[in-house]
Amino acid sequence: MSSLSQANALHAFQGMLFSTTSSEELLRSLDTFDAREDDVFLVSYPKSGTHWVAEIIENIPSAKITLTSPIELGDISKLEELKMYSKRRVIPTHLSYNLLPLNVKQKQCKMIYVVRNPKDTAVSLFHYYRDNPCLPSVETWAAFLELFLQGDVVYGSWFDHVLSWEEHKNDKNVLIIFYEEMKKDLSENIKKITTFLSISLSDSDISKIVEKVSFNEMKTNAVKEKCDTSHTICALTSNRSLVFRKGVVGDWINYFTPRQKKAFDELFTEKMKHSKLALHLVDYSM
Ligand code: A3P
Repeated sequence: MSSLSQANALHAFQGMLFSTTSSEELLRSLDTFDAREDDVFLVSYPKSGTHWVAEIIENIPSAKITLTSPIELGDISKLEELKMYSKRRVIPTHLSYNLLPLNVKQKQCKMIYVVRNPKDTAVSLFHYYRDNPCLPSVETWAAFLELFLQGDVVYGSWFDHVLSWEEHKNDKNVLIIFYEEMKKDLSENIKKITTFLSISLSDSDISKIVEKVSFNEMKTNAVKEKCDTSHTICALTSNRSLVFRKGVVGDWINYFTPRQKKAFDELFTEKMKHSKLALHLVDYSM
């Protein structure tokens, strides 16, 4: 990857790389965001299953919510735009915990953090880098993996991001959802999400949501919908057809050489040695 393409697509803010779709002025002003007590933040490191969880929330029949575009997407006018919604706001973001607006924390807004095993996340982000014109170009998987391990990618190090949320995993306003556990038992995870949002659903409502948020259903709809900017969940693109690639657990095996796996596992073991969240992930990435 040339440093030119890297420089064109990304910029650093407080030591973290952001897409130029997030203006520096907006990032600097996030602490002036006027949070409401009933706001819900849908947070993740990119490629962890954010669109999937967003689709679940949008399909809860009695939710009375507005799913907004990401808080860090666009320019300073975003903060005014967010004031215009009268319904309960569900606000997606890829921010790490420390960069979240101050009064989101003070008002103890509900936050759902979605985590996915880092090897599949890296592979998914590699494809995003290749296909998404808002991200720098990258020549090879090996070159990308190097950047990922160094945290030299958009939204920084996966490890630091997850660890920033790990510290808050027991906060009563934080729910952690795992991509792999959604794949295993989606109904159970839909229940977790609705209970957390204090919404009760019948089993038949849950079954309907399960059908609506299947990978195939979402992928087919995304191709039809393509660039509806009012339905943007990830600050890195409004083109949903870039999002739905394979939707499986364990695709990393097709990418990592034994040497790359070893280097990754060493870093994982070192960085995540005190992490309880990591215990949910080792089975899928070791
Ligand atoms: P892959 O690239 O591995 O296929 P995000 O929404 O955070 O950008 O994450 C995108 C990843 O979630 C992609 O992973 C995408 O295919 C996967 N995904 C999106 N919707 C899904 C669904 N309904 N079921 C399973 N995986 C889904």
